[in-house]
Amino acid sequence: MSTEKTFYLETFGCQMNAHDSEKVIGTLQQEGYRQVETELEAGLILYNTCSIRDKAEQKVFNRLNDYKKLHKAGKRFGVLGCVAQQEGEKIFDRAPYVSLVSGSASYRKLPEMLSRLESGESRITGLDDRQTDETFETEFTARQNPFRGYITIIEGCDKFCSYCVVPYTRGKERSRGSSSVLAEARRIADQGYTEIQLLGQNVNSYRDPEGKSSFAELLDAVGRIDGIRRVRFTTSHPRDFTRDIVQAIDANPALCDHVHLPVQSGSSRVLKMMAREYTRDWYLERISWIKAAKRPISLSTDIIVGFPGETAEDFIETMDLLQEVQYDCVFGFKYSARPNTPALTMIDSIPEGEKGSRLQVLLDRQREIQRTNYSKQIGQSLEVMVENQNPARGQIAGRSSQNKPVNFTNPQPIAPAPGSYVKVKITGAFPNSLVGEAV
Ligand code: 5AD
Ligand code: SF4
Repeated sequence: MSTEKTFYLETFGCQMNAHDSEKVIGTLQQEGYRQVETELEAGLILYNTCSIRDKAEQKVFNRLNDYKKLHKAGKRFGVLGCVAQQEGEKIFDRAPYVSLVSGSASYRKLPEMLSRLESGESRITGLDDRQTDETFETEFTARQNPFRGYITIIEGCDKFCSYCVVPYTRGKERSRGSSSVLAEARRIADQGYTEIQLLGQNVNSYRDPEGKSSFAELLDAVGRIDGIRRVRFTTSHPRDFTRDIVQAIDANPALCDHVHLPVQSGSSRVLKMMAREYTRDWYLERISWIKAAKRPISLSTDIIVGFPGETAEDFIETMDLLQEVQYDCVFGFKYSARPNTPALTMIDSIPEGEKGSRLQVLLDRQREIQRTNYSKQIGQSLEVMVENQNPARGQIAGRSSQNKPVNFTNPQPIAPAPGSYVKVKITGAFPNSLVGEAV
């Protein structure tokens, strides 16, 4: 029998989780494990989980259930991430074949947890209740995205929006020192990365523990590193979004023309119930700063429909806001009651069917807004970073600085390599992508 240590890791949820998985993979490789492509090949099966909405959480338990038979073949299971932190030891009751349960604030202890697992222990937990771990990056982070280097600058969230589990699953807000962020950025620029994405549940709350840089100054400094051509950041909170961020984007061409600013609702009444700490007007003022920039900054947002008590009038205010802001991308969600959150005690009076139809109305309207807006870009020349090629269709796929997918043909005999930058003349548009030809 082979004694080789192998693992399969599947990631659910947001970019923070995707990046955490890069840290977990690096740590496992350091411990002598080899990553494999399927559950069947692996000795250790890990799920890095998301609990932001009920559906995301259910997916994880379904996946565990699908593969539980493998336990009999001697395979071990581990649940990592937000569901692990939220459910804790209850996971062992619900899925007794699971041996390891760890939240993201305990990944520093993974080597120790793995050796306990190897020595046969079957109920290992990493559930730091204080969740104050400050290991933002391990030196082994195994970057999986060949073009975009993720760097965590702030962990956790102190906002406690009334619907959200994040403050409970990812713990208190803690910022990483600017010297460490910049050292990491220089290191990955030296490895050949040209695009960096700064990550945090709320990047605008960034407070440099070294007291050297504001968030806007940090953005600018990352954008000045030799070799870095694109800097993105996600996600932002309107309450902490300051004007100097727009000024930084205006002044530094390496900062991408895109801001993701989740609004959640267009109704001040609902925003108050959500404990978002801003009003519709406050939000729209930040949008007006972004729109007044010298560069065309693309806007995207997150919206929750069917929050407890959201009336038809409140929903119309959200629809009006879509019209007013003209986003280039909207992530819309039906409200989902989450454990521990204050909104759980509010009367969730909106039937699922009504939530579903509000969401559909919202997404249909947004699609039309995007159809019009994207078509306004026909005739423009955009810089596109190549992500992959589809030789069968003769097309190359990439993204503009505004983060819009661009599919283009290339009249040159040699196709541009993934990771390279190409000027593309836009010749057509769909509601979610642009098409063009390399010039
Ligand atoms: N129900 C529905 N959507 C939610 N989000 C966060 N919590 C919930 C919830 N309980 C959405 C918000 C957030 C995005 C990441 O997920 O819109 O910005
Ligand atoms: Fe959740 Fe609000 Fe924090 Fe975002 S800002 S992670 S929505 S609590």
